[in-house]
Amino acid sequence: MEVIRVKGGRSIEGEVTVEGAKNSALKLMAATLMAPGVNTLTNVPNIADVHVMGKVLKYLGARIEVLGEHELKIDTSSVDRWETPYHLVAQMRASTAVLGPLLSRFGKAIVAMPGGCNIGARKIDMHILGLESLGVNFDVDHGDIHASIPHGLKGTQVMLDFASVGATENLMMASVHVTGTTVIENAAREPEIVDLANLLNEMGAKVSGAGSSRIEIEGVEELHPVEHRVVGDRIEAGTFIAMAGICGGPVTVKGFDPAHLGLVLKKYELMGLDVERGRHECTVSRQAPIRSIDIQTLPFPGFPTDLQAQTMCLLAQGSDSCIVTENVFENRFMFASELQRMGADITIEGHHAIVRGVERFSGAEVKSPDLRGGAALVMAGLVADGYTTVSDVHHIDRGYECFVEKLQALGAEVRRMEVPDLEDGGEVG
Ligand code: UD1
Repeated sequence: MEVIRVKGGRSIEGEVTVEGAKNSALKLMAATLMAPGVNTLTNVPNIADVHVMGKVLKYLGARIEVLGEHELKIDTSSVDRWETPYHLVAQMRASTAVLGPLLSRFGKAIVAMPGGCNIGARKIDMHILGLESLGVNFDVDHGDIHASIPHGLKGTQVMLDFASVGATENLMMASVHVTGTTVIENAAREPEIVDLANLLNEMGAKVSGAGSSRIEIEGVEELHPVEHRVVGDRIEAGTFIAMAGICGGPVTVKGFDPAHLGLVLKKYELMGLDVERGRHECTVSRQAPIRSIDIQTLPFPGFPTDLQAQTMCLLAQGSDSCIVTENVFENRFMFASELQRMGADITIEGHHAIVRGVERFSGAEVKSPDLRGGAALVMAGLVADGYTTVSDVHHIDRGYECFVEKLQALGAEVRRMEVPDLEDGGEVG
């Protein structure tokens, strides 16, 4: 079993460059299905979720060439399947992003019902309702969703109940060839949606309004392959910024647009962090104690749920008490109970966490509950007394490239190591 072991107490400082955004790269890869030919994506992160999406595309018939660390050439000219099997969708919920592209290209799709990150029910009813209003028929059979378009796709107005990222993306992609115009109201406004809209427009689609809550997609006949650079990962950036904040820094985080963390950086300043913003980087340090302030997660431009655990970790060393409210996912406080094992004082009441600051964490054995919670436990280990051992690191590998190496370069005493799996009856050597 692989774990990440951290020795607390070493400060981190220096520079770190983030990769392309996981949540953008996955959807851009799916979108290449709609532009038959050789598409080139650059700044693609080398992470487990991208490998799963690569497997999905290959299963469908695409050929993928990996050039250097971060460039993919995806040839989608020979794609001849429209079925995504359970063994791949079960590994990653975002595999459902191929639904819209397959409908666009083939007028039909079979996608297994999703598994994915263990953070709540994560339904796809809004994807289904939106697509139905465009003219898609759905049947669920033996755990697979069978989608077909009996009478063509017609542009219409779709009003989302909630600004869902995945539903907005699938609707955008399914709408590129509609007759007429699709209007998505209450659309998600995340920077990754803008990145996808930019890619689609480069391919010849007519998408306007991405980044606002009203997106219009005018149908076009066909799309052509392109070369596109994935937007920098604001969540990876936010993770290193939070780490700099808890340790003191200074750390310069490069390779992303600080405007994509607008509210996060404001909140961090209120918490006592010093933030210097550049065009594609920011430098973070802290001298003052961490001030406790309330945080609530919301769709962009609200506070991202994907930085909730890292921020709770900071607040758990705050000078007072505060409330962290999770509005996007149910069941996303599993990280808090692991942090309690390290001495944090947190009480969960429904979707609120009451966080009372403590002076120190103590190193312990803890388990990554999910991708971001895992990163936040390593973060807690940086300032804990003694050693912290984080298991289930496969969650962290889903979304962070060279996580341990980047922390080592910043001066952290952290390493990845093999230990016997005690649940399997292994013995401690
Ligand atoms: C994406 C991101 C994830 C991020 C989330 C919110 C990817 C691969 N993942 O996930 O990292 O945390 O946005 O910023 O891009 N919901 C429904 N019905 C639906 C769709 C969603 O009830 O049809 C609910 C979900 O259960 C969840 C909430 O809406 O509670 C938000 O989901 P959504 O915005 O769709 O997130 P994802 O696209 O899954």
